[in-house]
Amino acid sequence: MDTAISLAVRLAGLEFKNPVLTASGTFGYGLEFVEILDLSRLGGLVTKGLSVEPMDGNPPPRIVETHGGMLNSIGLQNIGARAFVRDKLPVLRGYDTHVITNIFGFSIDDYLEVVRILNDGDGISAYELNISCPNVKKGGMEIGHDPAEAARLTEKVKRIARCPVLVKLSPNTSSITEVAQSVEAAGADGLSVINTLLGMSVDIYRRRSRMGTAMGGLSGPAIKPIALRMVRAVAQTVRIPVLGIGGIASWQDAVEFLIAGATAIQIGTANYYEPRVSIHVIDGLAAYLRDMEMSSVQELIGSFQD
Ligand SMILES: Cc1cc2nc3c(=O)[nH]c(=O)nc-3n(C[C@H](O)[C@H](O)[C@H](O)COP(=O)(O)O)c2cc1C
Repeated sequence: MDTAISLAVRLAGLEFKNPVLTASGTFGYGLEFVEILDLSRLGGLVTKGLSVEPMDGNPPPRIVETHGGMLNSIGLQNIGARAFVRDKLPVLRGYDTHVITNIFGFSIDDYLEVVRILNDGDGISAYELNISCPNVKKGGMEIGHDPAEAARLTEKVKRIARCPVLVKLSPNTSSITEVAQSVEAAGADGLSVINTLLGMSVDIYRRRSRMGTAMGGLSGPAIKPIALRMVRAVAQTVRIPVLGIGGIASWQDAVEFLIAGATAIQIGTANYYEPRVSIHVIDGLAAYLRDMEMSSVQELIGSFQD
């Protein structure tokens, strides 16, 4: 019966079989999940953030549970872009899904070097730039807080990238729509909204952070209302597509983001406690469209009524 229902979306010049992707840092390099679900059912997967050199990340503990969410201070641990291209990409190519590589650096040159390395890999559909990193060359301020710097990065990456470029926006700024406009003007092909919100958790007996670092990134259902608000604000501001992220744990959550203006969604923290959540979301979305007598997911996107 579902054959008459289309979940397909077009985004950044790419055709996605459905609008459900897994979010960076919560789905490894994808291959960790092959025994649990069929990667080819996903619209796409976004890898852990990749840097030029491998990184060990922050000292433990790196994850703390919070009400309705979690704080993490993983610190961008990863195997490095070269090892990804050599060891992971050839296997990932065997699956019929879009592989999007998340990229970070501590200067614009770092990002460009990762892009150059990934450009040599075969099987990457798009790059997603994580701009929530301190720019060490600019005194540690996040690139994502500075519209001009975010635009400079986007424009330079676009000049050399062999595939479409998504920019993942930081919610830890009062000017997310300004950053969105700025990177759109610099040539971004899409925007991922949002990354984690900065937060803290205090061990009251040791009077220290419960994590190895003072602050961490808050994610999970607790951030969903904020993420929805930001997705809507950004989608109303730019013409390029928005990928909605933040606390999605069910097909109903995904539908909310699509109605708010997201062309696709990414699922993060929920993968930790329900690794098959993305499959449930895909199936639930199709059933919802059938129940609502809609033939295409396109009818939902941006359909929010004021
Ligand atoms: C443990 C962990 C690691 C993450 N690592 C990255 C990363 O490397 N790059 C990135 O852009 N976002 C990273 N994120 C952010 C997620 O991709 C996502 O934007 C955020 O968690 C909000 O979605 P959620 O509430 O569904 O988890 C990470 C999140 C978590 C929980």
